[in-house]
Amino acid sequence: MSINTEKDLEGLRKVGKIVARCLQYMQSKIEPGITTGELDRIGGDYLAKYDARSAPQLTYNFPGYTCISVNEEAAHGIPGAKIIKAGDIVNIDVSAELGGYFADTGGSIVVPPQSRVKTQVCVVAKKALENALLEARAGAKINRIGYAIESEAVKNGFTVIQNLGSHGVGRALHEEPGFIPGYFDKRDGRILRENQVITIEPFISSGARQVFESGDGWTLMTKSGIFTAQYEHTLVITKGKPLIMTLPA
Ligand code: CO
Ligand code: CO
Repeated sequence: MSINTEKDLEGLRKVGKIVARCLQYMQSKIEPGITTGELDRIGGDYLAKYDARSAPQLTYNFPGYTCISVNEEAAHGIPGAKIIKAGDIVNIDVSAELGGYFADTGGSIVVPPQSRVKTQVCVVAKKALENALLEARAGAKINRIGYAIESEAVKNGFTVIQNLGSHGVGRALHEEPGFIPGYFDKRDGRILRENQVITIEPFISSGARQVFESGDGWTLMTKSGIFTAQYEHTLVITKGKPLIMTLPA
């Protein structure tokens, strides 16, 4: 969507803060022994308390309130009986709708004790998001986002998952301008416009370039021993720094 009015901005900020705080709250509840289903219930209750509706459930009939992906799972993991263990890398993705506005956020954390590679993919994915945010301004080519993400990955000996990426958001979970790759596509001539609402969400992997569907209809994963981290914000494009909608404070 494009932000046209102050009301649009307020509506987006409101749902953005809810998903950001929901993510933070869920992350604070991660400990060895909790199941992904229990964690999802905590997130679902949080959203309900603020009258927000789970966007993946609303949009795609996803079988959970949030997506929780553990270890080789990179995205769209179905919450359930899986028990979180010490040393796991856990990604939680929270997106929701309130008053017709949609915001989308996500983040990965490693349950102590941290292994070097799991910690490093998190550090690099976070830096890739920061770098991409600096490129996201009105008039810039959309492919600057992928350039920033891919450069950070390559510099650190990691890879970008090419079939997962950023996207338009705001009035729907996924909308125009469509898929925004996390790698540099020189043929992509699209330009970022002022007031446009998008996500930026690098998927940085310790070796995979593609995810495949696990067979449950949802979970996107890599082969064994490969780990992926993702951090995601919803933002409004301006002539200067983007306005980040998914900050907890
Ligand atoms: Co997301
Ligand atoms: Co997203």
